[in-house]
Amino acid sequence: MLSPKFLLLCTIAGLQLLTYADGDPMIEVFKWKQMDFYNRGDGYKDLWSRLCIPDPHVSNSRPTCFGPSNSGGTRNGSFIQYNNVPQGVTHFRGRLFVTTPRRQEGIPSTLNYIDLARDGWSQSPNLRAYPNFELNQYNLSVENLVSVYRTTVDACQRLWFIDTGMLEYPNNRQQIRRPSIWVVDLATDRVLKRFEVPQSIVEIGRGLASITIDVESGKCGDAYAYIPDLVNRLLHVYSLQSDRIWSFKHNSFDFDPLSDDLNIGGQTFRWDDGIFSTTLGPYQPDGSRDVYFHPLSSTNEFVVSNRVLQQESNAARSDHGNDFRLLGSRGPSTQSTMHKYDPNTNVIFYAEVQRSGVGCWKTSKPFSTENHGSVYSNATEMIYPSDLTIDEEGTIWVMSNSMPIFVYSTLDKEKYNFRIWKQKASLAKRGTVCE
Ligand SMILES: *[C@@H]1O[C@H](CO)[C@@H](O)[C@H](O)[C@H]1NC(C)=O
Ligand SMILES: *[C@@H]1O[C@H](CO)[C@@H](O)[C@H](O)[C@H]1NC(C)=O
Ligand SMILES: *[C@@H]1O[C@H](CO)[C@@H](O)[C@H](O)[C@H]1NC(C)=O
Repeated sequence: MLSPKFLLLCTIAGLQLLTYADGDPMIEVFKWKQMDFYNRGDGYKDLWSRLCIPDPHVSNSRPTCFGPSNSGGTRNGSFIQYNNVPQGVTHFRGRLFVTTPRRQEGIPSTLNYIDLARDGWSQSPNLRAYPNFELNQYNLSVENLVSVYRTTVDACQRLWFIDTGMLEYPNNRQQIRRPSIWVVDLATDRVLKRFEVPQSIVEIGRGLASITIDVESGKCGDAYAYIPDLVNRLLHVYSLQSDRIWSFKHNSFDFDPLSDDLNIGGQTFRWDDGIFSTTLGPYQPDGSRDVYFHPLSSTNEFVVSNRVLQQESNAARSDHGNDFRLLGSRGPSTQSTMHKYDPNTNVIFYAEVQRSGVGCWKTSKPFSTENHGSVYSNATEMIYPSDLTIDEEGTIWVMSNSMPIFVYSTLDKEKYNFRIWKQKASLAKRGTVCE
């Protein structure tokens, strides 16, 4: 049974498709100058004030306050608006999950969503904490969320993500607790699993910015998570069934020193980010699937079979032989954050940071520069596409967040800095070499 809410959403989407029937570029869905939240933490003033203690050595001293937002004078619970930069976007049945990693102080909740039925009319909707505000308060419990970069939905209607456990404040990084892998049931919004990544795998959680899930809908207990580690240049594999994690190391996870110069949004800088994104290709006749991956600071694409990754003993091999293979270069300036394979079109879509756009490659064609197409590119509107996901209806979702400007300069609060885009994969490939 389709709910009226769902049908309404389809109607809205249908009308938009009619309007954009020709060029089929990415469609802007939301845009923000600055982010805002339904719960900025104002209701938690009591909590924060409880963490204020007067200096026992000075009579009538002003209390010293712990917790976020005791700096800067104006106190809006834990909220410092400018510091909230959205990073990830994932759609599931009317809810759009948006993350705000804690890279600065003043972020009320790191995992959030937009309720499309209630707030889809707005150009700049407020975010709602997910699954609730309390779970996003890292100080309230030793298991609560600290910082989340990107989320994904698996074939079993579960939301997966990694909490890096780290406050990544410039010059003051704090590993609050172990990084952890989370699985949430989207039917009940209940946490099904929280797995702490042991110190033997990674020292700190920095660099665990995305996750891909390998599971069949009938075998939900037998899921594998592939977790690129862009800092340590490792590929971690977690098995839900055995509740174990292991790591691969290979040269193909390294950045390319010829591709680490970036020029985005007027900022020129050098990033040495290694393996950043993994995506699962089509099922092969033998039931295996290829796992495509790339470092951010590179224009090369690589591939490994999921059969290789799923064997823990393979990780310990000193020589990986031909397991990890170079497919080739996607072409000049094609550095990409996230990419995603769409099973209906057999096309992989890439978020291209240097081209400020979305690229594509049809997996049935030879991997060559000529066979890579451009779906969309706009250097003033799509500055730093930080995430690209595809939902179960075959719609691509992209977040662009102007991050290099935030990191190396200052965002203009009067301009639109953050945008969410979408397009049907079947239309996005039209008129490109990925057709
Ligand atoms: C809350 O978190 C801050 C880090 O932002 C830490 O310095 C402080 O000690 C924490 N307070 C409690 C009560 O855990
Ligand atoms: C607190 O809220 C007020 C009113 O909405 C706003 O003007 C001020 O900038 C906020 N302070 C911070 C630190 O975000
Ligand atoms: C980017 O998008 C804006 C708004 O649609 C448009 O005015 C501008 O020409 C575009 N720029 C490029 C380079 O396509």
